[in-house]
Amino acid sequence: MQPHSFDLEQFRRACSNFPTGVTITTVLSREGTPHGITVSSFTSVSLDPPLVLICIDQRSRIQEYLQVDRYIGINVLNAEQQNLSRQFSSAWNDRFVGVDWYSGLTGVPMLCDVPAAFECQIAKIISGGDHVVIMGRVLHVLATERMPLAYLQRSYGTVARAASGQELAAEACRLSRIEG
Ligand SMILES: Cc1cc2nc3c(=O)[nH]c(=O)nc-3n(C[C@H](O)[C@H](O)[C@H](O)COP(=O)(O)O)c2cc1C
Repeated sequence: MQPHSFDLEQFRRACSNFPTGVTITTVLSREGTPHGITVSSFTSVSLDPPLVLICIDQRSRIQEYLQVDRYIGINVLNAEQQNLSRQFSSAWNDRFVGVDWYSGLTGVPMLCDVPAAFECQIAKIISGGDHVVIMGRVLHVLATERMPLAYLQRSYGTVARAASGQELAAEACRLSRIEG
């Protein structure tokens, strides 16, 4: 394999110029405890069968719950839920404190008020360097009118929809930064 000619900070910065949404990926432990982490590496993969993927750090504590055939919930945060993004990437034990959630059809913890949610069964786990790619087969899906939280250049933002067709062409997707 060829060694790379750039420093990793440059690679990180380049990746951070690709805007994403933010999800909370959830699992239920065998003891019935909900766990979740903030994940922005969500991508839809296939319509037929319906497949999505996320990439999870090998060192993440959620790895213990990620095996083929187990269920995961992928909750797309809305524009006002950046506090949840912070909460689910900080102290592990109290991530669900004060969070509105319910048990999904597969039993996984699902967050309320989200623009989109996917309940998946893990179909495949692929090793990818210091992360693993988790391919999930979508069993249940929710789509609402809420607008999603955006993440770009390590900052949160909102996505504004342009009003007219012409504006749409000129300014399809304006990202207005939220401080903090
Ligand atoms: C906006 C945002 C996006 C993130 N995306 C990912 C991701 O795609 N994959 C990942 O493994 N960690 C991601 N993280 C980091 C994890 O949420 C964070 O390291 C978390 O603490 C991991 O859980 P753990 O501490 O219980 O292992 C992201 C964090 C933030 C704030």
